[in-house]
Amino acid sequence: MDERLTQAASLFPVVRIGADIGANHGLLACHLLKAGKAQKMWITDLSSDALEQARQNVTASGLASRAEFAVGDGFSAMTEPADAAAILGMGGATFATILKSAPQELLPKYLVVSCHTEQETARVAICERGFEIVQERVCFSGGRYYVLHQAVRRKDAVIPDERTLFIGPCLGREHSQVYRDYLTRRLAAYSPSRSAEGMKRCQWLREEADRAAADSKSSL
Ligand SMILES: C[S@@+](CC[C@H](N)C(=O)[O-])C[C@H]1O[C@@H](n2cnc3c(N)ncnc32)[C@H](O)[C@@H]1O
Repeated sequence: MDERLTQAASLFPVVRIGADIGANHGLLACHLLKAGKAQKMWITDLSSDALEQARQNVTASGLASRAEFAVGDGFSAMTEPADAAAILGMGGATFATILKSAPQELLPKYLVVSCHTEQETARVAICERGFEIVQERVCFSGGRYYVLHQAVRRKDAVIPDERTLFIGPCLGREHSQVYRDYLTRRLAAYSPSRSAEGMKRCQWLREEADRAAADSKSSL
């Protein structure tokens, strides 16, 4: 497992039934079963070829008796709810479609999410579906930055304001070196933008980079 999957595993709670949706290779599910984080895992993918890879890896690890494999679109591939579901490695828009279309009775209590793109879209989808983002991390793995979110379903979940959804409800207290480097990279990606929206976000990132730098100095 690379750093991204290791961080995702550490955000995954100990549960009876887990799910890895869009599992592909199935390495995260293998790790969660081996580590005892889930007694049973639903391992699903839209692609039967991808799921076959997962089946081979899980079987080779001697864990197939605790796994349920299913080909299908998002949560609809499952026939029972999981307590916690990991959805990793997709674009934010694909993730948002999966979460929006999840049948209510199959929604888990916990989500562990990491999207390759469109973090703001992913956060909006998480909050609009009644989850609260309770932990976020940034990691650098294979030359790329990844953002990971852990969310809990709550009756009284509120949708944060636009700036908070853009920066991250939990990242706004972070000041690690990797987070500051990530902000520098994000700022560089926004700098050429001249639209009013782009400039507003650029300004938010500058303020956040200043805040993280100041917090880092004061923590020394
Ligand atoms: C880049 S792989 C990520 C694999 C693994 N989750 C990871 O993060 O390393 C994305 C996987 O999501 C699957 N996928 C895409 N859309 C999906 C959907 N709507 N439902 C289930 N799986 C989907 C793809 O077939 C692919 O295997």
